[in-house]
Formats: sequence, C-alpha cells, structure tokens
Amino acid sequence: MKEGRKFLHFFDSEEYDEIVPESDEKKKVPPPLFQQPFPEDAPVIDLIPPDEFTIGKAPFLDLVNSRKSRRKYTSDPLNLEELSFLLWSTQGLKEVLKSGRGVRRTVPSAGAKSPLETYLVINRVEGLEPGLYRYISFTHQLLFIKKIDNAEETMGRLSFDQKFVGAAPVIFCWTAVPYRTEWRYTILSHKFIAIDLGIVSQNLYMSCEAINLGTVAIGYYEQNKLDTLFDLNTDEEFVVLLAPVGRYRKEKKLTEFFKYAKKEVTPESLQRLVGKYKRKNLVEFIVKDGNLVVKIGEFEEILTPFNELEFIGEISARAMRFEFDKEGKPEKVVVLTADDEEIELEFVE
Ligand SMILES: Cc1cc2nc3c(=O)[nH]c(=O)nc-3n(C[C@H](O)[C@H](O)[C@H](O)COP(=O)(O)O)c2cc1C
Repeated sequence: MKEGRKFLHFFDSEEYDEIVPESDEKKKVPPPLFQQPFPEDAPVIDLIPPDEFTIGKAPFLDLVNSRKSRRKYTSDPLNLEELSFLLWSTQGLKEVLKSGRGVRRTVPSAGAKSPLETYLVINRVEGLEPGLYRYISFTHQLLFIKKIDNAEETMGRLSFDQKFVGAAPVIFCWTAVPYRTEWRYTILSHKFIAIDLGIVSQNLYMSCEAINLGTVAIGYYEQNKLDTLFDLNTDEEFVVLLAPVGRYRKEKKLTEFFKYAKKEVTPESLQRLVGKYKRKNLVEFIVKDGNLVVKIGEFEEILTPFNELEFIGEISARAMRFEFDKEGKPEKVVVLTADDEEIELEFVE
C-alpha cells in the first residue's frame, strides 16, 4: 500500500530534475493526437450544439446541495439533447491550441493534454441504435462503433455484478490514453490523469443533476474483459471509470414517511426496540453504540437514530419507523426502501 501511495506525491524543487526524466516534448518528439483516430467513412451522428440547448439552467447551489449518487433508473430512454448536454459538459471541445500541444475543453486538464476518451454503451436513447459509441469532441459528434450482444446483462456482469449499471439507458465509460499527458509530464502524469478523471466525473454528476438525471461513478469493473469488449489496444488506452446515467424517480420526502414527534434518543429507549422482526427472511435488530444495527443474513446496516422510533438508513433502507400496539409493545417496523417502497416487518419475539 505504501508503494501505491507514492503515486499521489509530488517532488521538491531540489529533487525534481534528478527524479523526473526528460520528456518527449523536450526531446522534440511531435505532440500526440488529442483524439483517437477513426476511419474516414465510419458512421457518425451529429449531436445538438451547445448554443441550442434548452435544458440545464438550474441554479448552481441547488445542484451542489442535491447531488448524490443515484443507482436506480426508470426504463425511460434519454433523448439526444440530454445526451449532447452531458457530453458537452464533460468533454466539450472549445479550442485546439495553436501550438498543437493540447486542447481546451469545458473541463480543466493538466497541461491541456486531455488524456481521456468517452465511450458510451447506449441501451436506450431516442433515435439511436443500441450499441457502443465514442464521443468525437472535435466535431461534437457520436461515432457508432458496434453492437453489443446482451449489453444490459454484459455491462452488469462486467461491473462486478452491479446490475443497475447495465440497466441504465446510457453507460459512460471513460478510457485514458496516458501518452498524451506523458509526452510532457513523464512520471508525473499518472496523478494528473487521475485528477483529470475526477473532474470529468464530477461534471457528469453535476450536469446530470441539472437536468433531473441520475448517475454514479463506478470504480469496480472487470478491467481486461471490458478493455477486450471495447477492442482497445491496452498498451495505449484502457478503461478507467464507468458511470451509468438514467432518469430517476423523485424520492419520497422523509418528513412524509416519519410520523412521530421528536423525542430524545437514549440507550434505554433503543433497548425497547430490540427483538426480531420478520418478513420472509429473518431480520435481527441489535442496539450497538447508540445505533440500531439491522442484520439480514451476513449483511449488516447501521441506522442512525433520527428520533426515538425513527431511523435514517445508509444504503438499502432509506428510513425505518417502529409502530406499537395498544399496550405499547413493538408490533411492526415499516421500512422505506431505496426504491421508495414501504415494507412491513412483523415483530416475532
Ligand atoms: C472513484 C469512485 C468510485 C466509485 N465506485 C463505485 C462503485 O463501483 N459502485 C457504487 O455503487 N458506487 C461507487 N461510487 C460511489 C460512492 O459510493 C459514493 O460517491 C459515496 O458512497 C458517497 O455517496 P454520494 O455520491 O451519494 O454522496 C464510487 C465513487 C467514486 C468517486
């Protein structure tokens, strides 16, 4: 791990020349291409230009406050304006430097080297055939690459079985072409490329948020299998991050789900709730360190007390509330799932 950390370091001025090798740029090697080439007669589709966008005018602070990772998408397709907007916001090209040594985009990049390419697995976009595409930022177009068999199942499987990834209408798949940055920055490049990628990913989060779409960065994917699926020459280019995008349902407000007046949470008040509550599988509740831990088989989830009888969940359950019978004994637990469904668990012992 210590070795791995070093890639995040930079250097002091005294050691810089000793450690950092002479770059190809210094050696007068011509600059690399800032867009991967493709055959002249390949099928390309025009996207909607940024000066024609009718969407994406939401106030910035609202986006900052509402952004979160969203993993559940409806089956609705995206339209071409939405896709054009997301591609422009993440990798839109503003200018090729006159020196030919880089490009300016809607996102910053170390040395304007812009080492990323955007591939899209398209499952459902109005007017587009499903398949693998690449964003051609120099002309703001989409390049159709090929069809993918069983794309939804395949992309879920290649994301370590995160099935929601495959189920999205569009999956952004960024690759890195490291030499673009290495040409100038040699061994300093890899930290810069990772930072460039984070910036692009954040722009996707924010631009999705601006047009009521949801996304999540996906770092867990099968590297070699995905590189092979995309026919990449992995000495020069490989996948570095995925991000499914889709329409999400507006979440139920927790204030609508919660019913009780706020009361102080104490270890004693939590103790009242301990027991087993059942629905098909056995669910166990354990009070631990002032939290309520829900155990479902091997899976444990910590719920933070919001109220004496109401809890906020982290992953699978958004929230829970306890309900009591006339004698004040716990009768059931109502769980608000990540899908905004309400499930009731009966108290059994
Ligand atoms: C580099 C990176 C990789 C991630 N990989 C995954 C992933 O493979 N699966 C997943 O469900 N979420 C993934 N996430 C999303 C994080 O779990 C999420 O950002 C975090 O839980 C905070 O939640 P929020 O984004 O809603 O604020 C990743 C996020 C980042 C930045």
